[in-house]
Amino acid sequence: MKPLAKRMSKIQPSTTVEIDTLAKNLSREGRSIWNLGVGEPNFDTPLHIREAAIRSLNKGLTRYTAPSGMLHFKEAVCEKFSRENKLTYLPEQIVATSGAKHAIFNAISTIVDKGDEVLLPSPYWVTYPDLIRYCGGTPVFLKRAVKDNFKLKAEQIAKAITKKTKAIIFNSPCNPTGVVYSKEELKAFAKVIVENDLYCISDEIYEHLIYTKEPFISIANMPGMQERTVVINGFSKAYCMTGWRIGYLAAPLGLANEITKMQGQSTHHPSNISQYGAIAALNGSFDSVLIMRQEFAERMYRMCEVFESIPEILFSKPDGAFYIFADVSAYYGKKTAAGKQISNSVDFCRALLDEQSVVVMPGLAFGLDSCIRFSFTASLPTISVAMPKFKEFIEGLK
Ligand SMILES: Cc1ncc(COP(=O)(O)O)c(C=O)c1O
Repeated sequence: MKPLAKRMSKIQPSTTVEIDTLAKNLSREGRSIWNLGVGEPNFDTPLHIREAAIRSLNKGLTRYTAPSGMLHFKEAVCEKFSRENKLTYLPEQIVATSGAKHAIFNAISTIVDKGDEVLLPSPYWVTYPDLIRYCGGTPVFLKRAVKDNFKLKAEQIAKAITKKTKAIIFNSPCNPTGVVYSKEELKAFAKVIVENDLYCISDEIYEHLIYTKEPFISIANMPGMQERTVVINGFSKAYCMTGWRIGYLAAPLGLANEITKMQGQSTHHPSNISQYGAIAALNGSFDSVLIMRQEFAERMYRMCEVFESIPEILFSKPDGAFYIFADVSAYYGKKTAAGKQISNSVDFCRALLDEQSVVVMPGLAFGLDSCIRFSFTASLPTISVAMPKFKEFIEGLK
């Protein structure tokens, strides 16, 4: 057989998949697993959303629509932007996608050419570097550590820019660090981005999951940014719709048209059923999001209490999203109670799963091997079993 396309070698399965597969295998063998690994809310999709989708099906609204999505969906997204973000978009600037991940793929593959550099604040969400590489680009990592509270500085962006720099990917609130940027910080970033004529892909999927009093601000709100930014968003996190595969992007008109052209020749539009559910999410009651956010906040505080009681672990309390990215490198070089050597985040996660049945994700997958990611999408009862087990594990490290 002739070899497959070379670009396939640019994508690697994430180490998060390896841990996830190990956990599933153990679970199938009958082990009770305490999962703090998944980035998926443990709540059901709110009833009014489910009902809207069922109604659309029963009305027979199941035909092809425009490749960029239904007008009704795009209008609801425009209203959302106007109401929540003070951003004005035309429906033609919106593209409905099969999840935010698909929107990111659309944006990167439309913007990034062979040889382009794309700035990527690091730690980053696992998918970005592979998609950049798949499109022939090179990710340029803007590294931050826990001692910096994982916060990017505008000077860092300026320093990393070369003639090849085409775009920056921005994710606030951030997976995995929980960092949320203030208006002043965004303004400083925007100045550098505009001065250097870069595109910005702003992944705002955790917009509604913020635990401070500061409201969410999109980088597209900053002067000169809306015309160079592709805003990415979706329904998986705030509306517990991970399996519905529905998201969207908002872009300058020319870019949106190009993305629509590509989508028209590839996936076409996402499922109508999901679009009807998403319209109900945008136009319906926000109560379920508020209730869930309150619950996430409680879980986060519960986990933070445990980390605060362990001086060897460095962490920064997250302002948003639903993860804690904790530096456990003080334990590297030690052996577990069962005699396993811990040299890095993958060893740590494998051993914690093996010896205490607790799933967490290795920082290596997010660009920082000194850390591991804890997700507080699990219920409080799960957290209250898993965290003592985690503590027992580290107390056994010698
Ligand atoms: C930062 C970030 N963006 C995008 C996604 C993907 O979202 P969706 O389910 O809408 O594709 C995730 C999921 O974990 C995420 O953490």
